Amino acid sequence: MSYLKMNLDDVRPFLDEQPESLQEDVKRIHHMIHEKSGAGSEFLGWLDLPNIDQLPEYQRLLDAAKRIRTQADILVVIGIGGSYLGSRAAIDFLSRPYRQEGLEVMFAGQHMSASHLHGLLQVLDGKRFAINVISKSGTTTEPAITFRVLKNALERAVGKTEAAKRIYATTDKAKGALYKLAKAEGYEMFVIPDDVGGRFSVLSPVGLLPIAAKGIDTDLLLKGARDAKARYDHPNLLENESYLYAATRRLLYTSGKKIEMLVGYEPNLLMFNEWWKQLFGESEGKDGKGLFVASASFSTDLHSLGQYIQDGERHLFETVIKVEETTDDVVIPEDPSNLDGLNYIAGKTLSYVNHQALKGTMMAHKDGGVPNVLLTIPRLDAYAFGTLVYFFEKACAMSAYLNDVNPFNQPGVEAYKKNMFALLGKEGYEDVLKKG
Ligand code: PA5
Repeated sequence: MSYLKMNLDDVRPFLDEQPESLQEDVKRIHHMIHEKSGAGSEFLGWLDLPNIDQLPEYQRLLDAAKRIRTQADILVVIGIGGSYLGSRAAIDFLSRPYRQEGLEVMFAGQHMSASHLHGLLQVLDGKRFAINVISKSGTTTEPAITFRVLKNALERAVGKTEAAKRIYATTDKAKGALYKLAKAEGYEMFVIPDDVGGRFSVLSPVGLLPIAAKGIDTDLLLKGARDAKARYDHPNLLENESYLYAATRRLLYTSGKKIEMLVGYEPNLLMFNEWWKQLFGESEGKDGKGLFVASASFSTDLHSLGQYIQDGERHLFETVIKVEETTDDVVIPEDPSNLDGLNYIAGKTLSYVNHQALKGTMMAHKDGGVPNVLLTIPRLDAYAFGTLVYFFEKACAMSAYLNDVNPFNQPGVEAYKKNMFALLGKEGYEDVLKKG
């Protein structure tokens, strides 16, 4: 029995060729992944991250997480892309709406908005805060600027010695500006393994330190990922739904569906969508190929994007995440006057109504020419988060290789940086704009 179930009933009628027909390619690529013989295979360390709890580093991470909760009321996580999306997704996935419980985790360094950074400084003023600065390269501009500013604020607030005890750096094991700075200042450090790229790093200290500091059960999260690792560890498409999802995406793509939307019916999935978009967008979008990945939160976005999805250009498909049970529910009360006309659902729970909305929307979109992959998880818990992460990571590697691209590089991300550095006058970039 699988914790994560996939249903392709609303996809198969759209395909001339069924995903199982890709079995031979899938088998070849599976061996390529596990024998580490494909392009970018030096970045396959994420395959084994679910076992990170066997390493001594993991206990040190849990100790640091506990210490952060005694040192601070707010943890500011500084990082961009793969250096923050995973932990932010996990924390939102598991949060209780409208409540601030335990350590408050804030995220910064994901943009260059002066008003946001200024606002953050004002909010932090007079508060007990700690910092987890995360950057594999150690040189990414957005987090580096943010860290310089917040480090300065923390040092002014509590002094350099105390600030150094409240700053945690997650970076390369031996190189980069952040590594050098952290060593010089004596910060506690956590290592991003060489063979793990940013968007595959949520189960490394990159994701786990902020997640554990928030008080989330990382043992359970890793167990979810570990069980998924075992489940998706063989090439047979009839038993491996992660690969079946990848094969389905491939055939939808070649049949003209160029856009995939990840759709959730729980707002707690919003940041998970963002993590997923980076994972697939940065891994597949290269060499003039790849699905464009988008996302939506329903029923909210049915009131904005719904018209297009139902009736616009027929070049998209949806992957829907259904959450079977919610932790808390609300019963719709009977109202004697029934002026709002809602008594026909009085006595029903809101989650029942939400499920009918999902069912009705999937039926309508299918009728409108939009294939729907349905993924069902029992509930939003740490185990499900770990399961989904591994399911999508494995599928992403398979998907990119099925499109014949290297899943683990991101050559296109450098283009804007070069122009920006040249415009800012950074040494070594003098000739960039001349060439353009
Ligand atoms: O997936 C990736 O490699 C990127 O999105 C990086 O995570 C992102 O650019 C941040 O890089 P760094 O951790 O080096 O600051």
